[in-house]
Amino acid sequence: MVSFGVDYYPEHWPRGRWPIDARMMREAGIEVVRMGEFSWAKMEPAEGEFDFAWLDGAIAVLSKEGIKVVLGTPTATPPAWIIERNPEILPLDDSGMVRGFGGRHHDCQSSETYRNHVRRIVRAMARHFRDNPDVIGWQTDNELGNSHRNLCMCDSCKKAFRHWLKRRYGTIEALNEAWGTVFWSQTYSTFEQIPVPLPTPNSHNPSLLLDWKRFCSDLIVDFQKLQIDILKEECPGRVITHNYMGFFDKTNYFDLARDLDFISHNQYPLHFRKDRLPVAPPERLAAILDLMRGIKRKPFWIMEQQGGASGWETLSSTPRPGQLRLWTYQSIAHGADTVVYFRWRTCLYGTEQYWHGILPHSGEPGRRYHEIKKTIGELAPVMERFRDCGQGAEVAMVFSYEQEWAFQVQPHHFDFDYITHLMTYYAALYRTHVPVDMISDADDFSKYKVVIAPLMFLMTPELETKLRNYAARGGHLVLTMRTGVKNWTNIVVPHTLPGPLADVVGLKIHDYDCLWGVSQAVRWQDERCVTGPEPCAKWCDLITPSSARPLAYYTMDYYKDTPAVTENAYEKGMAYYAGTELPPTVMKAFISHVLAGAGVEPIIEAAPEGVEVTRRRGTKEDYVFVLNHNGTAVDLVFPARWQVLIGRELVRTDVLHLEPYEVVVCISE
Ligand code: GLA
Ligand code: ZN
Repeated sequence: MVSFGVDYYPEHWPRGRWPIDARMMREAGIEVVRMGEFSWAKMEPAEGEFDFAWLDGAIAVLSKEGIKVVLGTPTATPPAWIIERNPEILPLDDSGMVRGFGGRHHDCQSSETYRNHVRRIVRAMARHFRDNPDVIGWQTDNELGNSHRNLCMCDSCKKAFRHWLKRRYGTIEALNEAWGTVFWSQTYSTFEQIPVPLPTPNSHNPSLLLDWKRFCSDLIVDFQKLQIDILKEECPGRVITHNYMGFFDKTNYFDLARDLDFISHNQYPLHFRKDRLPVAPPERLAAILDLMRGIKRKPFWIMEQQGGASGWETLSSTPRPGQLRLWTYQSIAHGADTVVYFRWRTCLYGTEQYWHGILPHSGEPGRRYHEIKKTIGELAPVMERFRDCGQGAEVAMVFSYEQEWAFQVQPHHFDFDYITHLMTYYAALYRTHVPVDMISDADDFSKYKVVIAPLMFLMTPELETKLRNYAARGGHLVLTMRTGVKNWTNIVVPHTLPGPLADVVGLKIHDYDCLWGVSQAVRWQDERCVTGPEPCAKWCDLITPSSARPLAYYTMDYYKDTPAVTENAYEKGMAYYAGTELPPTVMKAFISHVLAGAGVEPIIEAAPEGVEVTRRRGTKEDYVFVLNHNGTAVDLVFPARWQVLIGRELVRTDVLHLEPYEVVVCISE
């Protein structure tokens, strides 16, 4: 069992440096190194000519310091000689342009030619390292789906898509029916007529687009499976994982995890481009980690934890003193059993020469090295206590790639985004200091007091029954706008919304309003709290209650004073419905109402803004993590039931004083 590691690229540095690196790693408490994942050209300089000697050498140097190795298969970077020989494996993007060699992931994952190259290198690698006890595991490829967002639409993928459709629908008549191809004369007489979604003069059929996303996801799962089968056959007894990208949406991560022993994730809070916030909000980082824990419903590895400033052509800010430590604790708090930092040393060349590692370009250990060494030093002795512990959450949020894809195909409102909508719920729970499990709609709901199932847009009879039964048996179920609109092939169901679940939520929706060029606001009103009106955004369902009781109201326009949020006692449980994307204070009131109704207790009653309080739940005790994400010092009232495990010096009688980015871990019986 290893707890801390680094991502290392020995091929970037002279051999003479390796022992110095290995010694410094050991001194910092590093126990595992991931490497190899981009070095295909070095391992196979020409077809069938393998050279693993350099990698054997690097492993031996690390082994001398007691460091184990996880090897990545190098299939994210097919070398130039492969592209020269088989240019047909270059991917075609969604504008019809071939993407060339020069970055990474310049490949088509359906191409048999490419797959044969993959089979050869993976088999050779697995065979070579089979008897090396220092190699404890494998990482398949690297960030599968990355750079493939709008890829690949080549002839091979077109064929594979048609084949996938044939397996799914059986006959072309069934597909025509399921997609509603009678619209705009799109009826197909054979599967061979079906296009991939290259540009048309306007838009594709939404059913085709959703199936295309499903197909792309399945293709990646299949591409990984090909590697896993070989690794298991040639190099048995090693763990196999893959490095995920949080909320990345190209692949259904639940599916991708099926063949893995555990999943890993790459956590980069700092961003370096204009299209994202410079620093990810802490609740988003927390939500991502909760999803990663939810993927296999068990702890995971961080395979790349931020180790310095991010950067390609432009740079992020530099992590402030304490931030690398803070983010390490946050990852562990949400379920990481092992944390591997990216990367050991900042590279001198290539696209990522400004993607900063623990060591700067010079290789001289500096502030970041010492911070990480300190972090590992204080955590290593206690990591065993957290191993395999979950968070003991009583609240679950249903996360669904299928629903997310359906909203990508039709966001309804220009600004609508699936993750942003989910985050309105998650953020309110996070601020209430209530742990959350992110689960799939296939998971068991019954162990949770509250299940929030946002945007159940695509509905099946099975899912309907599951939601109904959960409430009937005493669960507190939250459903939202756009529930039950479509069937699984993305066509609208001709019923009054929300369809068969109407009696569960005790209401009907006869009308709705996309808030484009019109405004609306909501006011909350229950026994304990009146708040608002506060503007709501994007969408409003107009709700006609049958048995439901209103909790919030719209305050403007022709549906002024009609319900925006409701609750309905259904058999032994309670079903809530939110008809709009709720603004923060109204959402806070809603979440407090739901939690109180279900008897869910927060970890702590109150903490200053920007302080995260979360936990891992062991068999005998809870480990409470208090994380100050603020760049300023804060104080909080220290509950008498807590006993400090890390950060003893921070408690003064009943006050916990947290410096900027400071953390404390406590035991709570
Ligand atoms: C990803 C990749 C790494 C590296 C970092 C920094 O997470 O897995 O190889 O590219 O990002 O960009
Ligand atoms: Zn292709």
